[in-house]
Amino acid sequence: MKETLLKMKEEALAALAAPDADLEALRIRYLGKKGELTAVLRGMGKLSAEERPVIGQIANEVREAIENELTARAQQQKTAALAARLAAEKLDVTVPGTVPEIGHIHPLDRVQRDMEEIFIGMGFDIVEGPEVEYDYYNFQALNIPPDHPARDTQDTFYITDNILLRSQTSPVQARTMEKRKPPIRIISPGRVYRSDAMDATHSPLFHQMEGLVVDKNVTMGDLKGTLEMFAKKMFGEETKVRFRPHHFPFTEPSAEVDVSCFACGGKGCRLCKGEGWIEILGAGMVHPNVLRMCGIDPDEYSGFAFGMGVERVTMLKYHIDDIRHLYENDVRFLSQF
Ligand code: PHE
Repeated sequence: MKETLLKMKEEALAALAAPDADLEALRIRYLGKKGELTAVLRGMGKLSAEERPVIGQIANEVREAIENELTARAQQQKTAALAARLAAEKLDVTVPGTVPEIGHIHPLDRVQRDMEEIFIGMGFDIVEGPEVEYDYYNFQALNIPPDHPARDTQDTFYITDNILLRSQTSPVQARTMEKRKPPIRIISPGRVYRSDAMDATHSPLFHQMEGLVVDKNVTMGDLKGTLEMFAKKMFGEETKVRFRPHHFPFTEPSAEVDVSCFACGGKGCRLCKGEGWIEILGAGMVHPNVLRMCGIDPDEYSGFAFGMGVERVTMLKYHIDDIRHLYENDVRFLSQF
């Protein structure tokens, strides 16, 4: 019996030593109510009175040894499991994170938003108009009757005889004056279309920003002050503005407006082609015929209007030498802005 007990102890301790030993199963197997130790002890009744305490003590030692080993192994397994989990979940917080690639505002949008901000700061509202437009608003209401030669300068995409893709943002002037009573102070940015072949400075689709102010006693001085303020905010405080006489059918008098070159300050450089000045927009006092056609009395009210190309301003500002860069959306180009 003693041998059986000692052998059992040896076997149990060997089984417990296995790294992935199932401790609970081994406990039941050796120490459980129907376990091996209990089975051996049941035979104790057959022992003599002298043998009984001796075997009883051995049995207790065996039980204690197995119990102690069970406890020790349980602790070891717990420690090992924790260590394994910590190793698996280990995180090096000093490794630099992956920075998600962030997109950019397209340079055309950037410039258009800058323009809008400046005019909003001067009390202008933003108004939009349709890109598919009636000939009436694109031309006739702007003092350009059907046989007017000015139509030739704007190679227009016609959809039907009287519907076209607007060739300028000026039709928004006429639409606004028809709907609103003065005082009117609006800008209107948007796409315009002309059937030009694509080259470094032309595109069949481009963007303009129109401006219109109508009120009592609006003068050319107001136009000049407004554009001077815009130019300083857009191109820098040192910027000067110059008006050159020009002709537009819907304004009288009309002017082409230059700003002093913001690259060289007016001395003459590559950007201004040695001129010191750069043309950026067309402007003038709203023609009385236009006011009248839109239901505004030219004896009571006067107004000024201006229009500029968003691409042109963008190209000048960022020294872009080919308009096509603005439409190709090459990420290497766009990520520079
Ligand atoms: N619509 C004109 C153009 O496209 C620009 C302009 C707008 C001129 C308003 C004067 C007044 O060339």
